[in-house]
Amino acid sequence: PPESRVSLTVNGTRRTVTVDNRTSLLDLLREHFGLTGSKKGCNAGACGACTVLVDGRRVNSCLTLAVRLEGAEVTTIEGLADGDELHPLQQAFIDEDAFQCGYCTPGQIMSGVGCIQEGHTGSPEEIREWMSGNICRCGCYVKIVRAVEQTAG
Ligand code: FES
Repeated sequence: PPESRVSLTVNGTRRTVTVDNRTSLLDLLREHFGLTGSKKGCNAGACGACTVLVDGRRVNSCLTLAVRLEGAEVTTIEGLADGDELHPLQQAFIDEDAFQCGYCTPGQIMSGVGCIQEGHTGSPEEIREWMSGNICRCGCYVKIVRAVEQTAG
């Protein structure tokens, strides 16, 4: 199958790879770079478990072709903490106990960071709406929204 070379920045590190043109960003992260924090829930854009930031915007990495990302800046859950210091939203998820099984959590947190950066945090209803692409099968929505609200200030 056709392959292409792509150079992108992942969590501050410049990477160049040659990949099958059909490779999703999610598979690139997980299988080529060993960054398994982003989860493959549905692999079809329906669950949000694979959410990462591309140039500061939220995307479902399962729906994003890696070869389209020449020059892009990608941030994953692995790139959020500053050394030993968690990102405030990561800390808020712990403080609020905003997960049960944890499978959706990386995607929820990346989506929450995007939601805060976009300024969609005026009310719990607004947060719910702008994070509606992130499904939690354990039903932790109240605590997730609280964590985002708290972090947004
Ligand atoms: Fe990408 Fe579900 S794995 S949206």
